[in-house]
Amino acid sequence: MKKIIISAVAKNGVIGKSSGEMSWHSKEEFQHFKSTTFGFPVIMGRVTFETLGKPLKGRLNVVITRNDKLNYDFEELKIVDSLNTAYSFCERQNYDKIFIIGGASIYSQAMETADEMIISIMDFDAEGDVYFPKIDENIWEVTSRDKRNGFEVLFYARKK
Ligand SMILES: NC(=O)c1ccc[n+]([C@@H]2O[C@H](COP(=O)([O-])OP(=O)(O)OC[C@H]3O[C@@H](n4cnc5c(N)ncnc54)[C@H](OP(=O)(O)O)[C@@H]3O)[C@@H](O)[C@H]2O)c1
Repeated sequence: MKKIIISAVAKNGVIGKSSGEMSWHSKEEFQHFKSTTFGFPVIMGRVTFETLGKPLKGRLNVVITRNDKLNYDFEELKIVDSLNTAYSFCERQNYDKIFIIGGASIYSQAMETADEMIISIMDFDAEGDVYFPKIDENIWEVTSRDKRNGFEVLFYARKK
């Protein structure tokens, strides 16, 4: 099962605001995110889920928390206690790929184990105080790039 990090990162590294507000809106980037992840599990931290407010449609939503009392009244939602539990749950459902969709704390943990990253670099700086973790160029290499309207998608793979 391929584990893929997907994120949208402003030119200055910002991915969001700790207040929960979105730092920007890009219809095109959202469409790219949707078409890439549709049909596959999306794994996220509890804060990111609460920012979304409800599960992303057409995808199994897996939310990571340390709070064993956490419960949301939604279908297509699985609550787990770690990234590894999320992986094994999706593996048992026989998915051949899964997407790790944030936020910052889950990205840094997932960078240890992910196989690929799909990072949209937005054409602008953004206001915010949550940043994408530093990408170690000794570990990750860009395998292709795709210029879109307002952003560029960088495809990363782990160096062999
Ligand atoms: N631009 C993008 O592509 C993008 C994508 C996603 C999110 N974001 C932004 O990122 C920000 C949220 O990121 P964040 O780092 O603050 O929060 P987060 O990673 O979404 O969630 C953090 C929470 O996940 C749980 N968690 C983390 N590690 C865990 C572990 N090892 N075991 C069990 N539970 C664990 C904890 O939940 P509990 O506190 O419940 O225990 C923790 O408080 C928001 O601003 C959001 O808008 C941006």
